[in-house]
Amino acid sequence: MQVKPYNYVSVIYSHLMRDISFKEWTKYICELIDSNNLDNPKILELASGTGLVSEYLHPIFPEMVLSDISLSMLKQIECQNKNVVCCDMRDLPFKEKYNFIFSTFDSVNYLLRKKDIIKMFKEVEQILSDDGIFTFDVSLYKNSLRHSKVLNRKGTTKGMKYFQYSSFNKKNRIHTNKFKIILENGIIVTEIHKQKIYPFEFFFDAVSKTSLYVSNCYRAFTFKDANPDVDRAQFVIKKGKKC
Ligand SMILES: C[S@@+](CC[C@H](N)C(=O)[O-])C[C@H]1O[C@@H](n2cnc3c(N)ncnc32)[C@H](O)[C@@H]1O
Repeated sequence: MQVKPYNYVSVIYSHLMRDISFKEWTKYICELIDSNNLDNPKILELASGTGLVSEYLHPIFPEMVLSDISLSMLKQIECQNKNVVCCDMRDLPFKEKYNFIFSTFDSVNYLLRKKDIIKMFKEVEQILSDDGIFTFDVSLYKNSLRHSKVLNRKGTTKGMKYFQYSSFNKKNRIHTNKFKIILENGIIVTEIHKQKIYPFEFFFDAVSKTSLYVSNCYRAFTFKDANPDVDRAQFVIKKGKKC
């Protein structure tokens, strides 16, 4: 397959994600929809990437809207979804309201400054309907400790050789993934992804700076309460004040 220049890392991303069960991840997203009694959800996905969740979600909710800051990631989307918007989750262009806004797989960790996270909450606040929920997962400290070794890997896909180097700086809590890709013609492309591993408590603090509140915070993929020691937490955010 001939890979178009803008697609290298997004193609590698889809390849690396082949072992992750997005079917199971989508099931959990559907359970979050059901447990909040959203019968006819109007759905917006933030940082959808190559649309791996929407492959399963779109057949159930064909009106769902996908968005991501990266056009090359969006261009990899395989489902027939026409509702795709290239935008930054810190500056959302939507005028309509949604009652189910979500993001998966550490995407929120890509916002590197605390003020970016608050900005995202403030943007979501504008377009979340009064009965709606905003849910996202975050990768926490233990996950980075665990995965910084495992994620050093290499392989081949679609004629490209790739190397992934992963490291976690405990001091500034930045988790870096560097991708080196050697194309068939020998040209080397590199891309560096940085994620901030915020303290668990920070998200509660950031939400409190808006009119939103944390309705629940689960150990990801479950409905059990999370704590600062879990690998990944799933936040469920609502409008108003907690009763
Ligand atoms: C780890 S990928 C996850 C993609 C997808 N949610 C999934 O589960 O496969 C992180 C995604 O966040 C996107 N992203 C990073 N910063 C963003 C921002 N400020 N606004 C919107 N998307 C962003 C990246 O382009 C990338 O597609």
